Amino acid sequence: MKIFLDSAHIEDIKKAYDMGAISGVTTNPSIISRENRKFEDLLNEITSIIVDGPVFAEVLSVDAEGMIEEGRRLAKKSKNIVVKIPMIPEGLKAVKTLSSEGITVCNTVVFSASQAILSANAGASYVAPFVGRLDDIGEDGLCLCQEIRDIFDAQGIDTKIVAASVRHPVHVNSLAKMGVDIATMPFKVIMQMATNPNSQRAVEGFLKDWEKVPKE
Ligand code: G3P
Repeated sequence: MKIFLDSAHIEDIKKAYDMGAISGVTTNPSIISRENRKFEDLLNEITSIIVDGPVFAEVLSVDAEGMIEEGRRLAKKSKNIVVKIPMIPEGLKAVKTLSSEGITVCNTVVFSASQAILSANAGASYVAPFVGRLDDIGEDGLCLCQEIRDIFDAQGIDTKIVAASVRHPVHVNSLAKMGVDIATMPFKVIMQMATNPNSQRAVEGFLKDWEKVPKE
């Protein structure tokens, strides 16, 4: 399973990319708003760092024509841009039009398997179920990902599942086990995955023992 960073924070993107942890970046309007910088400038900088992977950028329009126009504009910026279209009825027309023009589209804010089926039929290359936000409302985000995985496998659908709103490493392990294609997560979750107090203690123990080794 591939790991993407769900962030527009340049320092974190560079760190995660240099660690070899991520092969793509996802953003949304809320994530962009945290950086206090122009969207275009941020996108240019992110695509200059992630030279060999997708960078997801979301449209703001809520009508199909507006989404299509924005999607075309975003796609022109770099071959690595994936246009995120919200999974609302108006969004499906935009998914169909942009995909038929060869633009790579992710249908985002997916909260049900039926939405994912429609996304795939409209031509989305990716669907993004929101795991944590389902958990937040007392539903099971992982169950939804499993359901979409089973349906796509049963139907031979090659639309990729990019699990979003991932909140902790247990989410990541479960998503990997069920064969989800990609999990996108905040930098904090990547660091939680990389960190274990036992590893830290082992390194400290090795260094302490090394002091006992004669040096001459
Ligand atoms: O990028 C979309 C999604 O990952 C947002 O996550 O934590 O705001 O629910 P969250």
